[in-house]
Amino acid sequence: MSATLITGITELITNDQPAPADPALIVSEGIVAWIGPAADAPPADSRIDADGTVLPAFVDSHSHLVFDGDRSAEFAARMTGRRYDGGGIATTVEATRSADDDRLRELVAARVAELRAQGTGVIEIKSGYGLNTPDEVRALRIAAEFTTETTFLGAHVVPAEYAGDRAGYLDLVRGPMLERAAPHARWIDVFCEPNSPHAFDGEESRAILTAGRDAGLELRVHGNQLGPGPGVRLAVELGAASVDHCTFLDDADVDALAGSSTVATLLPGVEFSTRSPYPDARRLLDAGVTIALATDCNPGTCYSTSMPFMIAMAVREMGLTPTEALWAATRGGALALRRDDLGRIRVGDPAYLTVLDAPNHLHLAYRPGVPLARPLL
Ligand code: NIG
Ligand code: FE
Repeated sequence: MSATLITGITELITNDQPAPADPALIVSEGIVAWIGPAADAPPADSRIDADGTVLPAFVDSHSHLVFDGDRSAEFAARMTGRRYDGGGIATTVEATRSADDDRLRELVAARVAELRAQGTGVIEIKSGYGLNTPDEVRALRIAAEFTTETTFLGAHVVPAEYAGDRAGYLDLVRGPMLERAAPHARWIDVFCEPNSPHAFDGEESRAILTAGRDAGLELRVHGNQLGPGPGVRLAVELGAASVDHCTFLDDADVDALAGSSTVATLLPGVEFSTRSPYPDARRLLDAGVTIALATDCNPGTCYSTSMPFMIAMAVREMGLTPTEALWAATRGGALALRRDDLGRIRVGDPAYLTVLDAPNHLHLAYRPGVPLARPLL
């Protein structure tokens, strides 16, 4: 057994027990084996001088990494005033279906390398740019090469070939497509958005989610992104682990979340890249709602893999303190994935550790855009 001692920690964020003065850690076989004052550290086989802040690796609980194609022109058009309504997803579906497996795998691998280099430990990856049975299954198979947190999003939008037959597509998604996809996914998700002609209304979303639950999948929802809607309340009613976006909420939505175990996952990169109002994270926290921060990395509404960027926006634009934003990007993400073993530094848990080239965690928001975060091990 080989044990590594980590010292030189200017600040240790555990999201668990308070850190001792001059803290040190021992990691053995990928597991946190000991936490205590450096002066009391037991012997180890090797030593790392962190020379910075050590924190739990970010948990990015919402991404759509399996795609090909480029929508930078759509982004540029939005910056001059065009509205986002989900219509551009069709462009990505076409490009993704045309890519061969090796190319798609390489694209995902490059994106995963990019996010890991910025301090993310575990990522959730959705399908949703195949929108037919073989391409959805392929996306999930490729996603599963990179994470156990795979999500079936056949109900992203109604694809072009079903434009005149929504009911036919719904039957496909909750029938044969779900049956083939379920063995490759942990979660099912739906873009519940009556404000988009391409996405799904409350009753359609309910039908998809309940079919997914019957197939053994756990539930997540895209809700209340483009305007008020039923997504948040549906997610709470069905006991979803997370409802993501939460940009347009009324008091009843906030009350429903506050009385539930459903996490509100906020995705400020989407508001940044669609020029939309940011969700009111302060209101949610003050009401007692558990929140997470994630990237939503996708080619349409936010092509960023950077959790530090999300933290900086959450502080500057959404009313969170740097400490609250960091918690939401680590422990909050873990709870959104119902993973008790992630998002904190605790003896016995896997050692997903991130180091910041900074004296304390406030620098994550204080120095936006600066590449401070990297994997410690
Ligand atoms: O989470 N809202 C739906 N899906 C993605 C965007 C997908 C796209 O535009 O390609 C999102 O914002
Ligand atoms: Fe998304």
